Amino acid sequence: MSSLRATSKIHPVTLSCDGLWKVFGSQVEKLRQNADLMAMSAHERGQALRDDGYIVGAEDISFSVHAGELFVIMGLSGSGKSTVLRCIAQLQQPTFGHVMLDGVCLDTMPEAELREIRRRKMGMVFQNFGLVPHFTALQNIAFPLKVRGESRANIMAKAEEMLKLVGLEGRGNAFPSELSGGQQQRVGIARSLAVDPEIWLLDEPFSALDPLIRRQLQDELIELQSRLKKSIVFVTHDFSEAVRLADRIAIMRDGRMVQLGRPADLLLRPADDYVTSFVRDVSRLQVLRLEDVMTPASKAPNDFKNAVSLDGKTTLEKCLIDLAPGQKHIIVTGYQGKIIGHFTRDHLLQIANNEGEK
Ligand SMILES: Nc1ncnc2c1ncn2[C@@H]1O[C@H](COP(=O)(O)OP(=O)(O)O)[C@@H](O)[C@H]1O
Ligand SMILES: [Mg+2]
Repeated sequence: MSSLRATSKIHPVTLSCDGLWKVFGSQVEKLRQNADLMAMSAHERGQALRDDGYIVGAEDISFSVHAGELFVIMGLSGSGKSTVLRCIAQLQQPTFGHVMLDGVCLDTMPEAELREIRRRKMGMVFQNFGLVPHFTALQNIAFPLKVRGESRANIMAKAEEMLKLVGLEGRGNAFPSELSGGQQQRVGIARSLAVDPEIWLLDEPFSALDPLIRRQLQDELIELQSRLKKSIVFVTHDFSEAVRLADRIAIMRDGRMVQLGRPADLLLRPADDYVTSFVRDVSRLQVLRLEDVMTPASKAPNDFKNAVSLDGKTTLEKCLIDLAPGQKHIIVTGYQGKIIGHFTRDHLLQIANNEGEK
């Protein structure tokens, strides 16, 4: 039984993109019939298309989002993040490649079926929310539930709950024009959450908010996610937001995905200078956990004395705070308290010192 529980962390895939391309330009629909182009490697094809004057919004993007995973796509403006998100929702048709949701291929699906999938399985928040101006906040939030034909009592209860969730309790009767930009965006977020989607596609939903409110909404998303375990694709240009939220991050540049990994992977092993430029300002102490930096081992070294045992999930920051002055050695534990590695106070201080020098 225990081995079964240990493997229960492998969640099924909810969404996957397989060799996804979005090319902008004239007569792109004919590109698929170009045998020479189709025979090229992804790199050659991207180059050939650019040489011919096409804009390659997304180039050979492949990734899977697991059930309950918060997957972040991060990159500078124009790197192709929204293009990938729009292709996932099929608001733009991919030029090449496939998008699968719960095992069903979306890129070949008739529009009527797609509309139903968007309505029932996808929650979408884009940069500009497009609230209905003559609907109140509550009516805006209730709208997708009405479209689904739910009962009035259900609709109102859910809409009120969502309003509270985004901190707008008591403002349900306000019209969008009576709300601040940040508040309007909160209504948009609440509206997308109201349908309880299987996959949330969020395109820079917090970008226009004040830092404090933004942080609050990030916390709410984290809290919500810990309860609901939704599959989320979250787009941002803000690396620290990505690191705060993500289980995994895909970094995009010029339409390409340059690295995919957990926040700790990106911090410890950035693929290139572009990724390095983002990770530079992020606190290693806050992001890295003992399991990311420990020496893996099944028992403590013989010279370990007065060692403290800490869970592998402990952040280095917390570790630094918790360590008593005399404690030099740390034993790192994992599932059911088993030893998975060790670490020393000196290593920890070294990382902290490097941080201080930045
Ligand atoms: N409809 C379009 N027609 C032509 N080019 C487009 C279109 N949409 C996006 N692009 C181009 O594709 C690239 C990626 O854009 P986008 O996905 O919006 O970037 P991001 O969301 O990362 O800021 C940009 O160079 C952009 O100009
Ligand atoms: Mg965008």
